[in-house]
Amino acid sequence: MARYLVTGVAGFIGAAVAKALLAAGNDVVGLDNLTTGFRENVPAGVDFHEGHCHDAAVYGTLIPAVHYDAIFHIAGQSSGEISFDDPTYDLRTNTESTLHLLQFALKTGCKRFVYASTMSVYGVQPNEAITEEASTFPMSFYGVGKLASEHYLRLYEQYGISSTALRLFNVYGPGQNMTNLRQGMVSIFMAMMHNDGHVHVKGSPNRYRDFVYIDDVVTAFLACLTRPQSGGHVINVGGSGRMQVGDLVDALCSLSSKPVTVEYSGCTAGDIHGIFADISAAAKYLAYEPSVTLREGLQRMYQWYCAQ
Ligand SMILES: NC(=O)c1ccc[n+]([C@@H]2O[C@H](COP(=O)([O-])OP(=O)(O)OC[C@H]3O[C@@H](n4cnc5c(N)ncnc54)[C@H](O)[C@@H]3O)[C@@H](O)[C@H]2O)c1
Repeated sequence: MARYLVTGVAGFIGAAVAKALLAAGNDVVGLDNLTTGFRENVPAGVDFHEGHCHDAAVYGTLIPAVHYDAIFHIAGQSSGEISFDDPTYDLRTNTESTLHLLQFALKTGCKRFVYASTMSVYGVQPNEAITEEASTFPMSFYGVGKLASEHYLRLYEQYGISSTALRLFNVYGPGQNMTNLRQGMVSIFMAMMHNDGHVHVKGSPNRYRDFVYIDDVVTAFLACLTRPQSGGHVINVGGSGRMQVGDLVDALCSLSSKPVTVEYSGCTAGDIHGIFADISAAAKYLAYEPSVTLREGLQRMYQWYCAQ
């Protein structure tokens, strides 16, 4: 039996990863400060600790300084828009946290580190599938902090910590926070549609994204354990490929049994026009292949949401 530390374990992605690790018979120690996560999200069986990843005092006191087979650092403020509210906090919560966790890995002899990075590190890109070799020019404080974290991972490679940074594209699915209307494109539009019968899209319907279902994201995280060749790499994790925002909204509206109105107006700070992933590195290093189509994923998520 292996032991893993999962940060962000009360959030959407962290809880799903922890659940899969437990289901595979492992021990999971979890850390979360419950800023956007919820205690009830933490899967039963996790040795849960409430605290800030960016608080040095947490390590070795709150979180046991024992051997971990890997650290999954998934906690973070996960909205580009929100990062403009308080850039200093964003730096602490998203970047200082990574540094503390890498130091903790070093101290406890943990040799494997898996990080939830983001497509937001890329910034403005041409209208083509983006490989990991593309330039990085983040347009938000969030993207800057995540990119800095990736570089911290790279520096700690020299101390024998093998890291993989998964650049997640737009993740969606059951378990997503449906009350936070500033985080997660699919969850925001679905919640508006369901609650008000009206979807307000801040930005053009011609923008495009790459939507990836939560189960596929979990598969990618766990593949990092069985595929050590993924160490030392940043890897895109996409799903749907190039998908226009207007087509996403249409697909969502088709799920509702009631009429839905849609308004496209305004914009979001730090938003980019379009991005989608080349996932050949994920296929090569993780044998990753998305298994859930956007239509199927939206249906599953809507069923889950309506049953809440
Ligand atoms: N959801 C996406 O589409 C997406 C895309 C790219 C990257 N990511 C990254 O994946 C990670 C998880 O995102 P999510 O969608 O599950 O968001 P989430 O808000 O549901 O989960 C984040 C969790 O981290 C916790 N947290 C935040 N700051 C913390 C801190 N300093 N110390 C301890 N806990 C802290 C929150 O309470 C929450 O439970 C984030 O790092 C995010 O940047 C998400």
